[in-house]
Amino acid sequence: MKEQIKFYSGEKIPLELHKVRIVQKLNLAPIERRLTALYEGGFNTFQLHTGDVFLDMLTDSGTNAMSDKQLSAMMQADDAYAGSQSFARLQTAVEEVLGKKYFLPVHQGRAAENIISKTFMKKGDVIPMNYHFTTALAHILENGGRIEELLHDDALQIKSNNPFKGNIDIDKLVACIEKNGKENIPFIRMEASTNLIGGQPFSIANLMDVRRVADKYGIMLVLDASLLGENAYLIKEREPEWKENTMADILKIMTNLADLVYFSARKLSSSRGGGICTNRKDIYGKMEAMIPLYEGFLTYGGMSVREIEAMAVGLYETLDESMISQSPSFIEYLVNDLDSKNIPVVTPPGVLGCHVDAKEFCAHIPQTEYPAGALAAALYLISGIRGMERGTISSVRDENGKEILADVELLRLAIPRRVFTLSQIKYVIDRLLWLFDHREMIGGLKFTYEPPVLRFFMGKLSPVSDWPEKMMAKFRKDFGHSL
Ligand code: F0G
Repeated sequence: MKEQIKFYSGEKIPLELHKVRIVQKLNLAPIERRLTALYEGGFNTFQLHTGDVFLDMLTDSGTNAMSDKQLSAMMQADDAYAGSQSFARLQTAVEEVLGKKYFLPVHQGRAAENIISKTFMKKGDVIPMNYHFTTALAHILENGGRIEELLHDDALQIKSNNPFKGNIDIDKLVACIEKNGKENIPFIRMEASTNLIGGQPFSIANLMDVRRVADKYGIMLVLDASLLGENAYLIKEREPEWKENTMADILKIMTNLADLVYFSARKLSSSRGGGICTNRKDIYGKMEAMIPLYEGFLTYGGMSVREIEAMAVGLYETLDESMISQSPSFIEYLVNDLDSKNIPVVTPPGVLGCHVDAKEFCAHIPQTEYPAGALAAALYLISGIRGMERGTISSVRDENGKEILADVELLRLAIPRRVFTLSQIKYVIDRLLWLFDHREMIGGLKFTYEPPVLRFFMGKLSPVSDWPEKMMAKFRKDFGHSL
């Protein structure tokens, strides 16, 4: 079990096991400027500039703090188009940490999804999975396929005691294969710590069951390992059978169960880039030619050599429990505190961030007016905190242009590794409390510009009324000159 540092006072707070040696000054712009910034960015937090953002909780992607060791490794990068020693070091790290011999570098996670989908899918194929991630789904649709999401029925319940909401329902998986035919299922996709339902992990027991089904039908098992480290940490915390094992053991047990592992290094190794790895030469051989075509030569795959060095060190650091537990333990603190104040959040606490339930928080806003997007905008307005909408705006329209309402409407407040302090987390709690007490003032949003693919990135919206102006006036009344 994780070493718990006890406080004499009995208080239970996560203690930082690192020290801050390089800092970046933050700017908390006045609320009047934040309102203007919202209009300039079309009420889409992706469109805000960081100069207008106080706490950037948009994502952990490429924003985890790097270690001194990662930074120093970047200085010894061996710049070469082909055969660089830096790539050899990364290959060794992949083999030692993830247990896979054949490695293909790519520029980030979605590039791996592009190559995997293009290589293994044909039109009309079905990809069973625990739950989709936006970019994974986009590539499957792009290649003429569709997905089936096979979580247990309770996984989408916001409040739950289920420690492994990311598990696949094995009966549903078997039924899906029987119905669609194994010849139409090139692979099963398991996402470690299902991002869109609140960073919820799966168990090793479940992955073993999925493996058995995959073997029975001769279907390849693909593991999205972008959030593998945190999933492994929660296995150690929550699945009694593995609590005495090291992080190294657990990671290898998980990756050994998959035929093919891919990841966004922006998350997994606190660097940039990504990769695909396997122990099966036949699988490797099918994808190899795609790397020079879409990414770059086989020994850099679109990444800078400095990033390759940072990635190698970052992979080894995922084995360090005090590093890997920092983000989940801050999330646990934030989720439990908000939950105790009756603010609706996804439980149990997962990885990546705290997920606020916008359907309940903004119960008065219809899903067609994007409650999670509205909540993200309102929180930014009153605090300068930038979260991310993970609801219907992040969804897609069907082939007739009809809105597909998301299963869950979440505001995600990402907590990248070792970036924020506990007093900043307390500020998040304080401003969310004020917003919850004034939730009736939050109004809906409507699209003014809607791109056809991944609309949540570039789309522009506007408020359905003058609710932001009214909220700003109330904020000034309550907080006076405070930022
Ligand atoms: N898979 C998962 C589970 C992810 O969370 C992400 C990215 C990707 C694949 C794609 O990787 O960004 O390197 O191309 N998640 C980011 C996020 C964008 O904010 O959650 P990428």
